[in-house]
Amino acid sequence: MAAKGRIPQYFIDDLLSRVDIVDVINRRVSLKKTGKNYSARCPFHDEKTPSFSVNPDKQFYYCFGCGAGGNAIGFLMDYERQDFPGAVDNLAHIAGLEVPREDLSPQQQVKQERRKTIYDLMEQVSAYYQKQLRSDAQSQRAVDYLKRRGLSGRIARDFNIGFAPPGWDNLLKTFGDTEEHKQQLIDAGMLIEKEDGKLYDRFRDRIMFPIRDNRGRVIAFGGRVLGDDKPKYLNSPETDIFHKGKELYGLYQARQNNRHLEQLLVVEGYMDVVALAQHGIMTGIATLGTASNTEHLRTAFRYASELIFCFDGDDAGRKAAERALENALPVMEDGRRIRFLFLPEGDDPDSVVNRDGPAGFQKLLAGAAPLERYFFESLYDQTDPDTLEGKARLSKLALPRLQLLPDGVFRQLMLDSLAERTGLSRQSVDTLLSQQQPVVEPEDTPAPKVPEQRRSTQKLTAKLPGGRRDPLLFALAMLLFNPKGAATSPTSIANEDDSAAASLLNSTIALLRKRPNSSTAMLLGHWYGQPEYEVMTEALKTIELLGTELNDEKAETAFFDTLAHLDAQKSTATLRSHVDKLRVSNEVDKPESANYAELSEADKQQLLTIQQLLKQKHRL
Ligand code: UTP
Ligand code: MN
Repeated sequence: MAAKGRIPQYFIDDLLSRVDIVDVINRRVSLKKTGKNYSARCPFHDEKTPSFSVNPDKQFYYCFGCGAGGNAIGFLMDYERQDFPGAVDNLAHIAGLEVPREDLSPQQQVKQERRKTIYDLMEQVSAYYQKQLRSDAQSQRAVDYLKRRGLSGRIARDFNIGFAPPGWDNLLKTFGDTEEHKQQLIDAGMLIEKEDGKLYDRFRDRIMFPIRDNRGRVIAFGGRVLGDDKPKYLNSPETDIFHKGKELYGLYQARQNNRHLEQLLVVEGYMDVVALAQHGIMTGIATLGTASNTEHLRTAFRYASELIFCFDGDDAGRKAAERALENALPVMEDGRRIRFLFLPEGDDPDSVVNRDGPAGFQKLLAGAAPLERYFFESLYDQTDPDTLEGKARLSKLALPRLQLLPDGVFRQLMLDSLAERTGLSRQSVDTLLSQQQPVVEPEDTPAPKVPEQRRSTQKLTAKLPGGRRDPLLFALAMLLFNPKGAATSPTSIANEDDSAAASLLNSTIALLRKRPNSSTAMLLGHWYGQPEYEVMTEALKTIELLGTELNDEKAETAFFDTLAHLDAQKSTATLRSHVDKLRVSNEVDKPESANYAELSEADKQQLLTIQQLLKQKHRL
């Protein structure tokens, strides 16, 4: 029996089914029975009223306050700060079992080592770049550059800013001593492989900003040129450990500085985050060259209840604000605040704080528009609210967006505000709102007849606040609640959707094919500590929000119904785009034909088939 062999999966599964998570947690945190669940004040964050709950049926815990969640093993790892084998030993002891170990095949060994050390490697690479900033023969240029931008040595150190010296193989020579290490560097996105198999450094002659995940591990880099070359910033590619669309630069440092953040400033660039910090404003976070999406905002709201977006005052800034607004509406649960700040044209937070100092920047912040104001003002730009027509148009533009808001006081207030601004009664606003198509339904289709299955699913989703009705996340939650119910699911779904929920749904389905007897707790264990885990805890939240409404049978029905619904949406979209193409190609060929009378016989046939299909789809 090799001492460091792996703990076999069957044993972990067995262990999870033998111990009771309620026992495990209750020994450490005193639990109170509340209905079907148990609750307590969360041991992972400060709170006055309990939002931590333990689900004895499904053997998991979840905290509404901080989003922590998982199975018994994960609880021990986080609560006792044990590593995985330690937590398993701990549980096995309670259950009176001995932990067996299995030998790994050489390949498995390599894979496990790699997974473990890719983070170590990135940390070492980061330390190397930092060292180059101090000692490389060329580094004076980099140091001068940082000084010119107003950064002190101390802030550069706090953010671990470094320098990748000029040259094609500095990193390769320093870290790529074996084939295995080379492969690791490629996997981490630090080396690029040419067609002839030759390797070279991705980052050359650039200021290096390490990007950390919210546990503080270096997962990627952004590199800035010292001059005006293009591209100005180069970022690590997507890798196993780096998913651009989820990470927020600066969040780790902001949390290190203050565990009880009230506010976060969403800015555009690395330099904005660092320059603000230089002036003592330690709350800047930035997306990484992508627009902020709903997932970013959910993450940020996990740590602070107010977000202020800082945009440039130009057209690009307005567009970015428009997108941010759309993504923000679904996450505006009560108690959360969003404000919008438009900086003078040509400025960004970096330039403002360097010119006007922290006080000057704070003054601008104080004038940031609350979401409510920005929401209506941006619509006023497209309407004239003083005319009747303008008012009608205002409500037409506002309603589909307001519908994205989760249920709650804020939603009600926004609807009140719309009523006031249009002169409509609140009752009429509600009537208009109820006539809106559900967000997921494609526009201008007659409301389909609702079969029994769909009705049962709708009853469930109606219990969720609007922002939690993402169908992919919902399907994932249903699968997590009742994994056995998915025995006959298709191999993969919605594969052109690249959201985190879509890919996790697919990998969970794949995992369940391999291990069809997995329970909720076992599934949770599988993703623990990986980037996907955050999405899993989002799914736990959905389950907890449904509470006693949910049972295994309903979850199974809802899972398949949601897949069918997604499928219908997808093929509807494809069919519609066919129709559009037919229409366009015919209008181009025969501009005089305003209808389909001039279609070729083949096109007509195709169109007819499509129309019939569309009708069927909507009867789903
Ligand atoms: P900006 O061009 O606004 O960067 O891009 P900045 O932070 O103000 O840069 P400085 O002040 O000139 O150094 C904002 C963000 O967009 C991404 C980066 O994440 C950058 O911080 N970006 C920008 C890229 O990924 N690539 C680019 O070529 C440019
Ligand atoms: Mn800038």
